[in-house]
Amino acid sequence: MKIGIDKISFYSPHLYVDMNELAVARGDDPAKYTIGIGQDEMALAPITQDPVTLAANAAEQMLTADDKDAIDLVLFGTETGIDHSKSAAVYVHGLLGLPPEARAVELKQACYSGTAAIQLAKGHIALNPDKKVLVLASDIARYGLKTSGEVTQGAGAVAILMSADPKVMEIENVCTAKTDDIMDFWRPNYSDTAYVDGKYSNEKYIEFFSDVWHQYTEKTNRSLDDFEALCFHLPYTKMGLKAMQSVFADGMGDAEKRILSNYQISTTYNRRIGNVYTASLYVSLLSLLELHTSLPEGSRIGMYSYGSGAVGEFFTGILQDGYRDHLCAERHEHILKQREKVSVETYEKVFSQTVPVDGSTKVFDETTDPAPIYLSGIKEHMRQYVCRT
Ligand code: HMG
Repeated sequence: MKIGIDKISFYSPHLYVDMNELAVARGDDPAKYTIGIGQDEMALAPITQDPVTLAANAAEQMLTADDKDAIDLVLFGTETGIDHSKSAAVYVHGLLGLPPEARAVELKQACYSGTAAIQLAKGHIALNPDKKVLVLASDIARYGLKTSGEVTQGAGAVAILMSADPKVMEIENVCTAKTDDIMDFWRPNYSDTAYVDGKYSNEKYIEFFSDVWHQYTEKTNRSLDDFEALCFHLPYTKMGLKAMQSVFADGMGDAEKRILSNYQISTTYNRRIGNVYTASLYVSLLSLLELHTSLPEGSRIGMYSYGSGAVGEFFTGILQDGYRDHLCAERHEHILKQREKVSVETYEKVFSQTVPVDGSTKVFDETTDPAPIYLSGIKEHMRQYVCRT
């Protein structure tokens, strides 16, 4: 039985910062941000968007009533948790009106947990082939104003409907993984911004990729020739390129050229959104599938997932016949096109607005946020969510 991605969709908030303007404001050469890092724009979450609303907005327009009826499990991968106890999945379950019989749970391992959710969903569907699993990956990447990580922030979510006989991509069974207890990036419970050893995290990202890729090629006897494209977790778009080049051992043959060219396409959305942690790999996959005009049906796509701390995994998918008919490129183009560019001054103000942590009641101004689902405020320690539809 084939199991995999039946539907996939993203959402990113309506505000963004231009990286050229951010570079000038920080006294840096804009080419460092746009070429050295590889980011053109950075999505900015207003106070009215949090991981729950981002995920709910990603899923809301994708799911039909029949999909909702078939979902019996919601898996929510995030590292921007809003509660130590109640899962973000339960809030989204409520906002989307999913069946009460469906379970809901949150998963955590930095940027990796969306991939963990996909693998767990596969197992669940193997046992329950008539059921569907809603996988959500949603995050707001925050390092802080004027930090070295600032240029690699972003916000957004991906919703993936996993099923048997998937319409977009079968996820193959063979995959390889590596876990090692390291401190390259982490966020203690008391901090709303990440701690990071930037250079070390880059080294570990590449080392893990090289390890899981070589494990995979040994296990399967496959090589780059067997792949149409490779998609990467993209904390910034130069990162995947560095990892990919680390395994181009035999120079630039046809396979390397094809994979490099497809890599550029797979980074297009990410260049405009920034790091979205758990969702980044899947934003990149969407970029490839929706913006490549002639990616053949039946081709194999390799995917590298990396979550600091750290877990890395290499896994693969096969594009299904007619997969293009089940994508929503126009909606995604619209989401990015209708965004509002804010000045660096406004970005700093928006970034500094945070949800109160002292129990005080707060009502947020939602009039400027066009999102169908938003956070209207906080009351007696409870987040107040509103669904406009
Ligand atoms: P930095 O010190 O600001 O930048 O940190 P740099 O000096 O290393 O320069 C970056 C690149 O720009 C270099 O290219 C420069 O040469 C180039 P490279 O040599 O690396 O190819 N450059 C220029 N290019 C053109 N024109 C110029 C110019 N000047 C310099 N004028 C860093 C950059 C990414 C380390 C920092 O932003 C950071 O710490 N970010 C956060 C950590 C991160 O993203 N790590 C990635 C791997 S870990 C991961 O992916 C997991 C993660 O998503 C979290 C999770 O799992 O939850 C982060």
